[in-house]
Amino acid sequence: MEKIVIRGGNRLTGEVEISGAKNAVVAILPAALLAQDVCRIENIPCISDVSCMLEILESLGAEIRRINKHTVEINSKYVNSYVVSHEMTKQLRASYYLIGALLGRFGKAKVALPGGCNFGVRPIDLHIKGFELLGSEVNVENAMINAKADKLTGSSIYMDQVSVGATINVMLAAVKARGLTIIGNAAKEPQSVSLASFLNAMGADIRGAGTDVIKIHGVNELHGCTYSIIPDQIEAGTYMVAAAATKGDATIRNVIPKHLEAITAKLVECGATVTEMGDALRVTGPKSFKKCNIKTMPHPGFPTDMQPQMAVILSVAQGTSLVSEGVWDNRFRYVEQLTRMGANVIVDGTVAVFQGVPELTGAPVKADDLRAGAAMLIAGLIARGTTEIEDIQFIDRGYEDYIEKLRALGADIYRKEFEDVRIMKNA
Ligand code: EPZ
Repeated sequence: MEKIVIRGGNRLTGEVEISGAKNAVVAILPAALLAQDVCRIENIPCISDVSCMLEILESLGAEIRRINKHTVEINSKYVNSYVVSHEMTKQLRASYYLIGALLGRFGKAKVALPGGCNFGVRPIDLHIKGFELLGSEVNVENAMINAKADKLTGSSIYMDQVSVGATINVMLAAVKARGLTIIGNAAKEPQSVSLASFLNAMGADIRGAGTDVIKIHGVNELHGCTYSIIPDQIEAGTYMVAAAATKGDATIRNVIPKHLEAITAKLVECGATVTEMGDALRVTGPKSFKKCNIKTMPHPGFPTDMQPQMAVILSVAQGTSLVSEGVWDNRFRYVEQLTRMGANVIVDGTVAVFQGVPELTGAPVKADDLRAGAAMLIAGLIARGTTEIEDIQFIDRGYEDYIEKLRALGADIYRKEFEDVRIMKNA
């Protein structure tokens, strides 16, 4: 087993290059199944979610050619299966995108219910509603989702609540459906827009991505294409918060500033300085942080995937800050770990009250999920003393080369092998 060791107190300075977006690539890789052709995808992040998804595509018969660390070619010509087992889906929440992609390709899909981060109930009723409105029969048996349709037919689908996954999954199933599909109350997240761009590059006819209403005119065939994954807005936001939290002065390169507007606004409200420089942002942290309130919302609101990271700043801001989690019903599991480091937080359902403390102190903690793990990294960077983080496999899912990137910014951080007593005890 490995853990991360951080000696806190170093300011982050210098430059960091942002990788391709995890939440965009895990939707685009399955979309390559929709063409019996070769798709070349560039700027892919080197993270375990991508390795898992490529493994799944190979198990279905796709030929994967790794051109270099960040580029693959996927030949879906010989894909001959529409079944994805539990073994394959358990590490990857986004495995449910394979339902939409396989439905779109074969008119049928048999995919094990997904795994991934656990912060409360993560239903997929809106995905299923969309597939059924497109004319497929869907049932769940032995934790497998079975979907089949003689012919997918365009339909009007209104999302009861904004759902990134359901918006993306319906897009994947609808691109080759007969006629017009309209998705109302659609998600506007960057990953939804980038999938639409990718599918249109394959010959689809999708309009309105990034607005509340997406219109999809079904086409008969899709072809291969070349596409570069957009920069990861959450990775960028994480480094912005880390630079500010350490009172540092760092330039975050290869970003789309528009995707980061809500994060920038909150950092500035807390007292940081953010300067836009084309496809880079320079972030400098204040001597002390002002309190501020955060309410997470669907895009373009403050992203829920940045809530734990921002909470670290609120833990040491002057005064009382309020965080209201507007997307997930239980995304404060990381608070227990933060309080081990001296934070003073009261959680009541989807609201948390942060009473700022003068400093955090190093402690042994764990990553409860991907973004909680990112928050622990930031907490360790600013804490007095040494912090050790276990369960770092969660962080490996979504942050490419994060140890190397943080060390290059001046962090005192390294990975350490250790015997996991939890396993020893169960042995
Ligand atoms: C995506 O998850 C992201 N994952 C999540 O990021 C992110 O937190 C979330 O969108 C919100 O932005 C990927 O893109 C792979 P949703 P997703 O469907 O699609 C409810 C990370 O850290 N809902 O937008 O699963 C749901 O319970 C991950 O990178 C239904 O009720 O999220 C939630 O309350 C964590 N029924 C809300 O909608 C459904 O059928 C938003 O969920 C689907 C969702």
